[in-house]
Amino acid sequence: MKITIIGTGYVGLVTGACLAELGNDVFCLDVDQKKIDLLNNGGIPIHEPGLEEVVARNRAAGRIQFSTDVAASVAHGEVQFIAVGTPPDEDGSADLQYVLAAARNIGKHMTGYKVIVDKSTVPVGTADRVKAALQDEISARGVTATFSVVSNPEFLKEGAAVEDFMRPDRIVIGHDNTAEGEKAAAKMKKLYAPFNRNHERTFWMDVRSAEFTKYAANAMLATRISFMNELANLADQVGADIEAVRHGIGSDPRIGHSFLYAGAGYGGSCFPKDVQALERTARQYSQDLLILRAVEAVNDKQKLVLGQKVIKRFGADLSGKHFAVWGLAFKPNTDDMREAPSRVLLRQLLDAGATVAVYDPVAMAEAKRVLALDLTPEELARVRFAASPMDTLTDAEALVIVTEWKAFRSPDFDKIKTALKQAVIFDGRNLFEPEVMAEAAFEYHGIGRSILTRT
Ligand SMILES: NC(=O)c1ccc[n+]([C@@H]2O[C@H](COP(=O)([O-])OP(=O)(O)OC[C@H]3O[C@@H](n4cnc5c(N)ncnc54)[C@H](O)[C@@H]3O)[C@@H](O)[C@H]2O)c1
Repeated sequence: MKITIIGTGYVGLVTGACLAELGNDVFCLDVDQKKIDLLNNGGIPIHEPGLEEVVARNRAAGRIQFSTDVAASVAHGEVQFIAVGTPPDEDGSADLQYVLAAARNIGKHMTGYKVIVDKSTVPVGTADRVKAALQDEISARGVTATFSVVSNPEFLKEGAAVEDFMRPDRIVIGHDNTAEGEKAAAKMKKLYAPFNRNHERTFWMDVRSAEFTKYAANAMLATRISFMNELANLADQVGADIEAVRHGIGSDPRIGHSFLYAGAGYGGSCFPKDVQALERTARQYSQDLLILRAVEAVNDKQKLVLGQKVIKRFGADLSGKHFAVWGLAFKPNTDDMREAPSRVLLRQLLDAGATVAVYDPVAMAEAKRVLALDLTPEELARVRFAASPMDTLTDAEALVIVTEWKAFRSPDFDKIKTALKQAVIFDGRNLFEPEVMAEAAFEYHGIGRSILTRT
């Protein structure tokens, strides 16, 4: 099938590459000329396991192309995916300017029938606004062109995006219950048929329910995280181990083990903005989503917990003190620094006068870019970007772990102890066992694990 993907970011590039991998003829459009040039020169703008290989293979086979040519992109695809960003507006609602600009561009150039797919995460009712924008542009040209707008939210996880896209646990498709809507559904069914060979994974529904499903999923996941973080802080107070509690509750099939980890708070481009956007939608209907308000507030507080533990241990004035930080990306296997808890930790340590040496397996370049925006030149001068995890440790009072990269899970503790000034670890992701750390003579501060260390 001929497919156009509008927006070549995390979602758009993965969607385009994976659909090309299945034999479709894919045209990826972006407004960012640098990104398109990089892709056309064989580069990849993001770190995502397996993506580079898929893109290279399909480029070589002539099944995927990258361009900024809007007219050509509209002419290309019988199905046009909108996968542009929907960042938070000042009031927390989703900013739809990029989605609507993409829709208008389609309306300006389209002839004949097109299926427009909202793949971006968009508030309930957005498909109606996309339809209106398309119709506006078509009418302004005085031509007749028909279209259907379908909602097909994306559930991939950064860090496992290619795998998630190729083996989705569900495909949600919302379409209108009209002849045009059924025609669009038939095309979507054909496009997604390869994913449904083993068993049917598609949930067909109306457009508004599909739009809502994406927000409900992210809100539920964020709720689980904030719930566990709040209980972890209480566990620290009462001398319980949140990891033992996690196992104890996760074995109940009604609860399950997934997504129950206490840590340094959630970040990334999705949970923070989607929780806010759902709250904002509710407020438009005079409803206050009390749970989600609390989820957000707990998360904002949780991002401070690691830094507060450091300050409690080493004092409010950290000038003259140096710390090692492992992990900068908001989660492992990505270089995404959006809303990353590491940014809050660095702000706290630098505000208290410390110097830091930081390391992340893939996010160093992105961290340099983002921290140059977050920090003043004087603050930035107090950050050293280290060449390896061990390279961060020299002269550090303590090691602070913010992201749970696999490479950090079994380090050489003897080397760490020798390199650090004091054998102190603040583990924002509960990578290690307090008992093991005690045996190795480390002072260990986890999240909700004060049973042994009484921190
Ligand atoms: N990142 C994720 O893990 C994830 C997962 C599921 C859903 N989503 C949702 O998918 C959407 C895209 O997210 P992302 O992380 O891929 O964003 P991104 O910022 O990585 O990419 C968006 C791209 O769209 C381009 N763009 C903007 N306006 C354009 C236009 N008019 N025409 C062509 N290109 C345009 C930008 O230049 C950018 O390259 C968002 O709504 C997000 O909430 C993201």
